[in-house]
Amino acid sequence: MTSGRLKPRVLLGVSGSVAAYKAVELIRLLRKFCEVRVVLTRAGSRLVSEKVLREASGFPVWTSLFKGSTPIPPGTPGGSHPLAVVPHIEFAKSADMVLIAPASADLLAKLALGLANDLLSTLCLYATCPLWLAPAMNTKMWNHPAVVQNVRTLRQRGVPFLGPENGHLACGEVGEGRFAEPSEIALQVESHFRLFGKWKGRRVLVTAGPTQESIDPVRVLTNHSSGKMGFALAQAALNRGAEVTLVTGPVKLAPPNVARVIGVKTALEMRREVLKAFPKTDLLIMAAAVADYRVRRASRTKIKKARGGLSLRLVRNPDILAEVLRRKKPFQRVVGFAAETDHLEKNAREKWGRKPCDLLVANRVGGGRAFDNDQNELLVFSPNSPRPVRLAKDSKSRLAEKLLGMLDEF
Ligand code: CTP
Repeated sequence: MTSGRLKPRVLLGVSGSVAAYKAVELIRLLRKFCEVRVVLTRAGSRLVSEKVLREASGFPVWTSLFKGSTPIPPGTPGGSHPLAVVPHIEFAKSADMVLIAPASADLLAKLALGLANDLLSTLCLYATCPLWLAPAMNTKMWNHPAVVQNVRTLRQRGVPFLGPENGHLACGEVGEGRFAEPSEIALQVESHFRLFGKWKGRRVLVTAGPTQESIDPVRVLTNHSSGKMGFALAQAALNRGAEVTLVTGPVKLAPPNVARVIGVKTALEMRREVLKAFPKTDLLIMAAAVADYRVRRASRTKIKKARGGLSLRLVRNPDILAEVLRRKKPFQRVVGFAAETDHLEKNAREKWGRKPCDLLVANRVGGGRAFDNDQNELLVFSPNSPRPVRLAKDSKSRLAEKLLGMLDEF
């Protein structure tokens, strides 16, 4: 953020997605910690009124490149260029972030191609601050190869995406494409401004999701972990400016813009990647739900059903966390998780005794809790406190922020 200013400046682009009306709530939340000016596209203006956005932001809404410009007296230096005196250009020049929420499929295409055929796309080429996108559209559009390609292009350029999420869409369908909750977007933006730089230079390794152990070429042993907690932790570390590597089992989530994403399937693959990256890691967060057993010898061909039952011979997988703790150097920090269905505190404390990590984060699983849920509640064991700290039910992003907050001093 430019020094001397009390609040960061966010240029909020609102484009033509049905979720455009949610920008009103987002502006209200963003204004608690930043200055917001709104740029509305022509399609966006059909879905949310300029007047409402003006009321919400407290400032005129910018809709066209030339509207609002002041006439330039002849002979003014730089006056021959229309961009020189227009207020939205002045704001874009000093903005700390351009956030487009919601970002439509059309807007993603313009940004991927570098078009500048309206005010918002022009400002995106002009502004030098980070650009963040929160897309919202129908699932079929989001999965269209053209959109997938544009998203990939933008990600490769380092643009962070907030959402979209899975859920009910305005068109009545259910699927991926739903606009991220305004409170989640505001939380990520706020963390970025408040915390960025705090962990600069720290190398963070996060594991996430389940592992899958093959039974035969079509069947697997796995668990219900969605990877959401691990991904939220990777995002929270990114918000602090850390260099993040994410080792993830098979999940349906788009990864945050971390330095490296390593996809694995089995516990053995996860072990190999973690042990390879660990020597150059300052903080390891083992949020993955690693399968404790694998089939001793997976069948090369599909197992045919036969009369009676089927017995599988299982063997123990290595315990990655236990192994890492044995190799840990004094400068390294390790966070472990404990998933328990019952006697949470007792079982987790016992696990912490066996795997003495710097923080042990316990959560109750089963019955729809924790796994594949956007919310969770946690019990955190730390050597700094005689009793475990209870983190009340909250979104996984907020819990991730709180957990990393507990590691700020390490
Ligand atoms: N873990 C691991 N390797 C395994 C199993 C677990 O690294 N093979 C890690 C998990 O990532 C987590 C912690 O160990 O950080 C605890 O995992 P959890 O499944 O709760 O417990 P387990 O140690 O497997 O014990 P149990 O299944 O008996 O509860």
